[in-house]
Amino acid sequence: MEPSAALLSETTAGLERLGVVHESWQVTAQEFVAAHAGRWDVVQSSFALQSLCEADKREVLSWICGHASRFVLVEFDVPEVDDVWDPVWFADCVARLERGLREYGADRDLVGVGFVLPVVLGKFSATSPPANHEVSIARWRELLGETGFGGIRVRRVADYWWRPAYAVEAIGSS
Ligand SMILES: C[S@@+](CC[C@H](N)C(=O)[O-])C[C@H]1O[C@@H](n2cnc3c(N)ncnc32)[C@H](O)[C@@H]1O
Repeated sequence: MEPSAALLSETTAGLERLGVVHESWQVTAQEFVAAHAGRWDVVQSSFALQSLCEADKREVLSWICGHASRFVLVEFDVPEVDDVWDPVWFADCVARLERGLREYGADRDLVGVGFVLPVVLGKFSATSPPANHEVSIARWRELLGETGFGGIRVRRVADYWWRPAYAVEAIGSS
């Protein structure tokens, strides 16, 4: 399931090349859970559920818990602050962005305009709602517990320029 037509067709082309039998849906997670029942052995999501606001995160996580045996979530661990203009938080954010953009070489402008400005710097907009809703891994753990998951285990999987990424594994109720 992937809302972007371009990303979905790249993914399905890759699966076809590998001979993996699959189904695909060009929908958001919210649309998917509103329209589907059934039971799934494993549900996996990486860096996508951060796009959902708190209420939608709860709705989608509750659905996954009720329809899947296992859930594997991969997300960044983003410390939460009351004020994104807090000087310490802001200085750390700028340093990470500079380091990150240097990694992209020739693609730097594309990444800056297409990703850093709308997604990362969206936090600083006073006029438009943020494009993503990142939270700390501690908060993800709480949300998983509150939506019914058990057996929650966390491990660090990668150190990105933005924040470290963690895999959170949990047992659903289906
Ligand atoms: C940072 S990319 C991660 C892509 C890929 N999963 C990966 O790990 O490389 C964020 C992904 O979340 C998807 N996305 C955005 N809003 C979504 C939503 N409401 N439901 C499901 N996926 C969403 C985007 O289309 C994009 O594929």
